[in-house]
Amino acid sequence: MSALLEEATRIAAQFDYPPEQVQRAVKEYIREIDEGLSEEGATLSQIPTFVTSVPNGTEKGLYLAVDLGGTNFRVCSIDLHGNNTFSLTQAKIMIPRELMTSGSSKELFLFLARQIESFLRIHHNEHFEAHLRRMVEAKEEDLFDLGFTFSFPVRQLGINKGTLIRWTKGFDIPDAVGQDVCALLQDAIDELNLPVRVAALVNDTVGTLMARSYTSPGETGTFLGAIFGTGTNGAYVEKLDRVTKMGNIEHSDYDKSTGEMIINAEWGSFDNHLSVLPNTKYDQQLDTDSINPGIQMFEKRVSGMFLGEILRLALLDLHESLGLFKSSTSSNAFVPKSSQIYRQWGIDTSLLSLVEADKTKNFEQIKSALKDHLKIEHASDDDAKSVQIVAHAIAKRAARLGAVAISAILISTGKLQTDDVVDIGVDGSLVEYHPSFSSLLREALREVPEVGAAGDKKIRIGISKDGSGVGAALIALVASKEGTQRPVS
Ligand code: BGC
Repeated sequence: MSALLEEATRIAAQFDYPPEQVQRAVKEYIREIDEGLSEEGATLSQIPTFVTSVPNGTEKGLYLAVDLGGTNFRVCSIDLHGNNTFSLTQAKIMIPRELMTSGSSKELFLFLARQIESFLRIHHNEHFEAHLRRMVEAKEEDLFDLGFTFSFPVRQLGINKGTLIRWTKGFDIPDAVGQDVCALLQDAIDELNLPVRVAALVNDTVGTLMARSYTSPGETGTFLGAIFGTGTNGAYVEKLDRVTKMGNIEHSDYDKSTGEMIINAEWGSFDNHLSVLPNTKYDQQLDTDSINPGIQMFEKRVSGMFLGEILRLALLDLHESLGLFKSSTSSNAFVPKSSQIYRQWGIDTSLLSLVEADKTKNFEQIKSALKDHLKIEHASDDDAKSVQIVAHAIAKRAARLGAVAISAILISTGKLQTDDVVDIGVDGSLVEYHPSFSSLLREALREVPEVGAAGDKKIRIGISKDGSGVGAALIALVASKEGTQRPVS
């Protein structure tokens, strides 16, 4: 093996997360679940969502949904057909960077309301104009019900009420923290006189769970919804009597008849104090240079927004001190100053998927990706292979950490002891595009003794595409007290 490959393997080994560590992390996660269910302000937020039932596929109606959660804002209308299917019309708008960090929350929410207005004009103009004509004596039922998917940590106070705890994923608009984000959106909508009522506030993981439950055939409701995308998080069905902090939370009334409630774990902040999470020098540097050091430490090791940056830091290390892109066989390899390898966030996580997918003998795809993404010409076979070794190790660790959260929730809720299949809906770029992420996650699940090989059959994991939009529509429907629901488990 060449010296370069040896070095790459040594760096990759720093991302090993062996079974004993997975198991230790599962124990800590279970402890943090209990803490989060009993007190406010714990590391794992365990946020009650006030959604106490999941859909069974027979729900019907036309709903609006908007989704603010990463780099894009999505506006959609969803027609639920009532037979496990739906049709969806959507517009995706890139959020101007300046609105994500510097601007005031008012500017951001007005921007969002304007997108809703143009969506209605384009796709539902007749309906929209009719609403406008009746606006003077508008009745409640004339309004479009809208589900608002807002994928940041929110202290939820009711089905359409919740205050922002903190921003994540590169957003930072201080004046929004502590405010009711539904009211912010409703105010902006009212300022433009739109016939829209913000009926439900939804985390994307809750939406994913609901959408999966609506579309998955059979009687079993979905148990867990997880996102492995720009950010990462999960929501699951919890017994109400385990949510002991409920009594201390100020909240509006909700339906207690099912005895269950969907909990938004906000697992991105699991183990912020780093008692069990791995912590390489690359993780440390990423955190120090981030806009929220010490926060979202699990997310910073698992989700799409960060894996590319970890890879960049590791490759830069290999390049600067250990000979990557300058080995003897690639004396022509050249890394120009303008290469994204020198820029913070310069490597997109899609590169990890691309690199993982290359099964060609001479790493043709990796070489051309290095050229396209990083302007690196003439990379050698060893260069390309080194990139693959390191990128694989980073994604593998992320998937194993994902398995920690999932198995801990399954164990803590006793879900594995039931006879039913446990249905899990997932979404996000890593599960959708990374060729090995899901199988690496499965592999780690098997290594948790309480799950074991039996988990392969017992746990059904499926993609819940566009889950957050459809899920938001479904919760808007629940909120407007229509349709049939079934108890959450
Ligand atoms: C947010 C969560 C969200 C997740 C996935 C995290 O950064 O805190 O609320 O569910 O990203 O989008």
